[in-house]
Amino acid sequence: MTEWTKTDWRAKPRVQMPDYTDPAALAAATAQLAKYPPLVFAGEARRLKSHLGAASRGEAFLLQGGDCAESFEQFSADGIRDTFKVMLQMAMVLTYGAKVPVIKVGRMAGQFAKPRSAPTEVVGGVELPSYRGDIINELAFTPEARIPDPAKMLQAYTQAAATLNLLRAFSTGGYADVNQVHSWTLGFTESKKAEAYREVANRISDTLDFMKAAGINRDTAHTLQTVEFYTSHEGLLLEYEEALTRLDSTSGKWLAGSGHMIWIGDRTRQPDGAHVEFCRGVLNPIGLKCGPTMTTDDLRRLMARLNPQNEAGKLTLIVRFGAGSVGEHLPRLIRAVEAEGAKVLWTCDPMHGNTIKSSTGYKTRPFDSVLREVREFFSVHEAEGTVPGGVHFEMTGQDVTECIGGLHAVSEEDLSDRYHTACDPRLNASQSLELAFLVAEELSQLRGNRQSREAV
Ligand code: PEP
Ligand code: CO
Repeated sequence: MTEWTKTDWRAKPRVQMPDYTDPAALAAATAQLAKYPPLVFAGEARRLKSHLGAASRGEAFLLQGGDCAESFEQFSADGIRDTFKVMLQMAMVLTYGAKVPVIKVGRMAGQFAKPRSAPTEVVGGVELPSYRGDIINELAFTPEARIPDPAKMLQAYTQAAATLNLLRAFSTGGYADVNQVHSWTLGFTESKKAEAYREVANRISDTLDFMKAAGINRDTAHTLQTVEFYTSHEGLLLEYEEALTRLDSTSGKWLAGSGHMIWIGDRTRQPDGAHVEFCRGVLNPIGLKCGPTMTTDDLRRLMARLNPQNEAGKLTLIVRFGAGSVGEHLPRLIRAVEAEGAKVLWTCDPMHGNTIKSSTGYKTRPFDSVLREVREFFSVHEAEGTVPGGVHFEMTGQDVTECIGGLHAVSEEDLSDRYHTACDPRLNASQSLELAFLVAEELSQLRGNRQSREAV
């Protein structure tokens, strides 16, 4: 393929991006961003890529999660801490089920730009441009709020830098200690309703006690007290991505400096479009959302463009078909990948195919549909003999009421209590952890099946 430059996407058809009306303001904002330090280092992106490669072979498992859209208004240390905390709890439970390391990747520190199903929104007969995320315009339903403002990219950068700084501090400063993480989970399983999960939690306690008794904690203190936590977001606003793209002097390759991993959305994955053109040139691991309209032909072209060297860990296919539809779409895509001998990591986003409108008028997702899609994803991989390597959730550590169902059953009537999302409905802390227990059970079952097949 021809030599790539970070501005090549500008010559390609672009969708889902704002038309900035003030070119001078846009140039000023991107010039400023281009002077700022990158948020991540190339060595980190390479390390994540190698972990994802392990997950593609079944030697690790990916947990990717966070807000649908990060918000300027709801930005707070507590919010970051709580999501980080619940992700660590989920990772621990999943590690227990999968018996492999769990790679933790937040939809954080850059998840600000949103693709929308329609360019405009009509409320009470008034039509305005759609809200596209805080990095672009504002949620308020006024003509001024909906004008795309390039200066918002600078605020997004600042928030991303502060978020990442706190995540790095939590990861290595003692907050992530396994014993502490487990004590939070024990708190959850003490509730009468969570009885079903107590046995697993007790088994984890036994393991930790054994390690302590055997002196393993002393010898591996660093490993047990720190975690690797990576960041990711949809690489949607290419002006922002381009301005943060830097040459990695070690490898001579380009790094998207905005986050460790970036993904291409289901609406922006045109093989000849701007987003694919940008993403094909950076060294970061790349995610690709695959919805029901993904054809096998497009998938083949996208794999050739995004991972021409067939590098393990480079490409993560994030499938999101909706519960009940996985059996119709996933097998054909898996077969296309297998026929090419392509190395990909398969993960399941059980959120975006399961959005419904509640009778009370809220966009919501039933917990049961989310769980069902993950189960279908696992069983199709089991039948095809391929590796289900991870899950991708829209979730928060806060006690919101946005998705219905779960242990502390959120009902349609409850949705109005604490419905805070700026975009899609998220699992709350308790729903997220419960899901981790249920997914861990599935993983442990799959492992059991594999072992008994290998034994005969
Ligand atoms: C998202 O992940 O928030 C999203 C918009 O997903 P998709 O591109 O799969 O619709
Ligand atoms: Co979303």
